[in-house]
Amino acid sequence: MPIDTDKIIFFDTTLRDGEQSPGATMNMQEKFRLAQQLVKLNVDVIEAGFPIASAGDFDCVKNIADNTNGVQIAGLARANKNDIDTAWDALKNGENPRIHTFLATSDIHLKYKLKMTRDEVLELAVASVKHAAKYTSNVEFSAEDATRSDLDFVCKVFSAVIAAGATTLNFPDTTGYAMPDEFGAQIAYLFANIPNIDKAVLSVHCHNDLGLAMANSLAAIKAGVRQVESTINGIGERAGNTAMEEVVMGIKTRPDIHKVTTDIVTEQIHPTSRMVSTITGMMVQPNKAIVGANAFAHESGIHQDGILKERTTYEIMNPKDIGLTSGSLVLGKHSGRHALKDRIASLGYDDLSADQLQQVFARFKDLADVKKDIFDEDIEAIIMDIIFAIPETYKLISLGAMSGNKTMPVTGVKLSVNGEEREGALIGVGPIDAAFKTIAQITNTTSKLLYFAVSSITGGTDAQGEVMVRLQQGDKIIVGQGADPDIITAAAKAYINGLNRAVYLETKHK
Ligand code: KIV
Ligand code: ZN
Repeated sequence: MPIDTDKIIFFDTTLRDGEQSPGATMNMQEKFRLAQQLVKLNVDVIEAGFPIASAGDFDCVKNIADNTNGVQIAGLARANKNDIDTAWDALKNGENPRIHTFLATSDIHLKYKLKMTRDEVLELAVASVKHAAKYTSNVEFSAEDATRSDLDFVCKVFSAVIAAGATTLNFPDTTGYAMPDEFGAQIAYLFANIPNIDKAVLSVHCHNDLGLAMANSLAAIKAGVRQVESTINGIGERAGNTAMEEVVMGIKTRPDIHKVTTDIVTEQIHPTSRMVSTITGMMVQPNKAIVGANAFAHESGIHQDGILKERTTYEIMNPKDIGLTSGSLVLGKHSGRHALKDRIASLGYDDLSADQLQQVFARFKDLADVKKDIFDEDIEAIIMDIIFAIPETYKLISLGAMSGNKTMPVTGVKLSVNGEEREGALIGVGPIDAAFKTIAQITNTTSKLLYFAVSSITGGTDAQGEVMVRLQQGDKIIVGQGADPDIITAAAKAYINGLNRAVYLETKHK
């Protein structure tokens, strides 16, 4: 068994499989920024996208490959020359590119999807890997739907593609079907039955349809795999992928069981998680392991008492290890520019331009005028707003709402539309409904609200409300977000942000 290293290679596919989550499209600027955050997290490989999928995807992969160092950048390609050539075109100027090509191996996929025989699949897999290997020695081959494939056939394909030049072999549980014991046994079978397995790294890629992606990934590590594919917050196709933070913290928390190491800078987990939910509009469920808002909250009196006496009575992980600074009061109205700059850097945003810092400072002062205590989370929300700023075709100038249990809700809105001031007021079922109707009328847009969520950025009745909306405009689904101590204003900002993104998407690539 060729396990000559204890290090687990983390292959992050948030930008590719993660983006396949319904409604989780990211624009080029967001993808690039997230890639830079993944570098801070110190992942080993970033799968930046699927270049053949669209011109936008191609440009995003190219932009990330061309401008990101210190990490391998992978591009996905189906097993055909055109996909592989396009992936290489996007990747070729990068420092350390990887072509990731895939082909299904299960009989179900062969019969119904590919309409190919096993011999044809074997031949195509080998030809594709040979083609990719002409460009780079860093070639990954994935056997799609591997866990429902005949294992002897997978062994045959893997053995052949290694001989053809593949250096990483990925065994995906594409449909999230496997059980941990079974999955571990499958991995052991591959090690025992692929004669040249020592020439490649064995990898897994698990989906979470039965909630077992993390358990299956750990079972695979135990059986000897040394690459794990995962996403931040576990986002991805259907029920998502293995959540990277769960595997990393599983390894870190139980070194007695998992005798492996990772290079992940765990303190960057929380900022990365927050960035992913902000960009994608997919909020993390409060009880989600590691990164959920309640993951380190202690509700019962007995637990709180225990924690106060000794943290480890009820905490198996130190929240600081995932970069959680929650609850730390940072600044107030009288805090100066230097204090804010230091705080921003300690939150991990040490690369803001002077102009961005100035904008954060101005927004901070505005917030401090209405909110006495400013927490890290408030600062982070402002930073996100600024670093992911897009051109504001529509800009909120003012909003006034009237509502109550015996009052007909009405909201008046004044907007700048391409620099021209426009205003209106409408009644609605509630003040937010009235605000959205008014904005739609003023902007002359017809989008359907698919999703609306409001949460508070910190505790306290003076906390900022944070609103996420998902809008449908034609065949496009767009996310919008906004934060404000007034939740009707936060909702209006989120809606307007969504409309601005829609305009931006039309003019730029997705
Ligand atoms: O789930 C899957 O099989 C995939 C492959 C492309 C690796 O995402
Ligand atoms: Zn997948």
